[in-house]
Amino acid sequence: MNNMLIPKPFKQEFSEGFFVLSSTAVICFADTAAEQPAQLLADYLRPASGFVLPVQTAGTGNGNCIVLQTTASGNAEEFPSEHYRISVKEHQITLAGDTTEALVRAIQTLRQLFPPEIYADTVQDVFWQITCQEIDDSPAFRWRGMMIDSARHFFPKEQVCRMIELFAQHKINIVHLHLTDDQGWRVEIKKYPRLTGIGSVRLKTVVGHECDRPRKYDDTPYGGFYTQDDLREIVDFAARRCITLVPEIDMPGHMAAAICAYPDWGNFPENHVPVRPHWGISYQILSPRKEVIEAMKDILGEIMDIFPGKYIHVGGDEARKDEWEISPDAQEVMAEQGCRSEKELQDYFTGEINKFICSRNRRMLGWEEILNDSLEKSSIILSWRNRNMEMAAVKRGISSIIASRMFAYFDYYQADTRYEPVAGGECLPLEKVYQFRPLPDALAEEDKKYILGGQGQLWSEYIPDGSHQEYMAFPRSCALAEKLWTPEKLCRLLDFKQRLQHHRRRLAVQRVNACPLP
Ligand code: ACM
Repeated sequence: MNNMLIPKPFKQEFSEGFFVLSSTAVICFADTAAEQPAQLLADYLRPASGFVLPVQTAGTGNGNCIVLQTTASGNAEEFPSEHYRISVKEHQITLAGDTTEALVRAIQTLRQLFPPEIYADTVQDVFWQITCQEIDDSPAFRWRGMMIDSARHFFPKEQVCRMIELFAQHKINIVHLHLTDDQGWRVEIKKYPRLTGIGSVRLKTVVGHECDRPRKYDDTPYGGFYTQDDLREIVDFAARRCITLVPEIDMPGHMAAAICAYPDWGNFPENHVPVRPHWGISYQILSPRKEVIEAMKDILGEIMDIFPGKYIHVGGDEARKDEWEISPDAQEVMAEQGCRSEKELQDYFTGEINKFICSRNRRMLGWEEILNDSLEKSSIILSWRNRNMEMAAVKRGISSIIASRMFAYFDYYQADTRYEPVAGGECLPLEKVYQFRPLPDALAEEDKKYILGGQGQLWSEYIPDGSHQEYMAFPRSCALAEKLWTPEKLCRLLDFKQRLQHHRRRLAVQRVNACPLP
């Protein structure tokens, strides 16, 4: 149905008549920036309609046509304009986007204008009709992210691509991949083969909730990792959908798997550190010695060769300093660098990594813990615990992404904990996600530019497989996507819920294991 779009567009006006897609239609691109989106649209429409629609330059053909054109010159901006217009007339649909990115967002809107069966992967006997209308649309926020954690549980590349496609349908433009953690190293690094050879496998995994005592384990080795070729496939898949992938190598904490593989990177190489078999925050932290920082640069160098996007995430969260407090090496580095505390030692570590990332013309991202008085202005923080952090960042002229655990941690329960599978945190139902407001109330008008947007998190301690990942992600990420795309003044919960009823059919056609509540 035509007014059942998620996210809700800025403006949609209906008129008389219908456009009908038939096997004789053609897809035309008016300029080279529109060619890739035109191909993508043809590929999207083929499985369910069964139509192999020709993709050609504009001005040819005499059947119904869908014309794609870009209207602004150049896509050189760090965040290209995503403003688009759609005009549906009886014999022609025109998609006009400022940029390629904008056209790809327009395509996702167009797909939603067809009956939900358009999302099927086999031919459907459906009349592919759209009411004549005009849409004018652009996003409220530039950063509309979702994070996938492949470290605690591993999701094969097919599932990662499936999630990327589902997020793309909701106009998410950033997918953050949390690739390493205490519980497993999931990315092939050619220079350090033991990272995956040893660090990708934990010997057992805790069963039930992290807080249950006594702890019980399954005694089954658990592993998995992406080769660099796997990741390049994922990069290509995302790029076609104009989604930027943000790889995260979490440091200096969350590194037990790496320290297991390379004990010299730890503070006490004589102590055996296993790949962590349960969840929670570990005491292990990388040694701040020069050689270890150099090894991290080697790793990030390979990561930057795989991921072409501007943003490189270096974690920085929950780095316990207990080991640094008692390690003679760490204390020596602290003295050498004039650090007055172990927190400043982490700031030194992050600063060295940032210099390397900037030297490759990328921007460093980290969780809010990386914020400090000397953090470079090009860095971006993800504020996740408390909203004072983005205000502190704004004061320093540093940009933030709001990844709030109050509103955007989708590993948390989404309904009555008594009836739900084990999950993290507190209860974060759909309605609460819809209350998410990335812009802090106290923010001055001229500072709004520092809030790039928001992001949902799918931490996977309690997400063992792809089906459960979908259960936790949907429909909450539909609500998040709307709050990041649609201006706040157009967002109404009841209206959203009504559209969601129809939207659920789109997800069902794709066999998405969405949570049926509320
Ligand atoms: C986090 O949840 N540790 C960023």
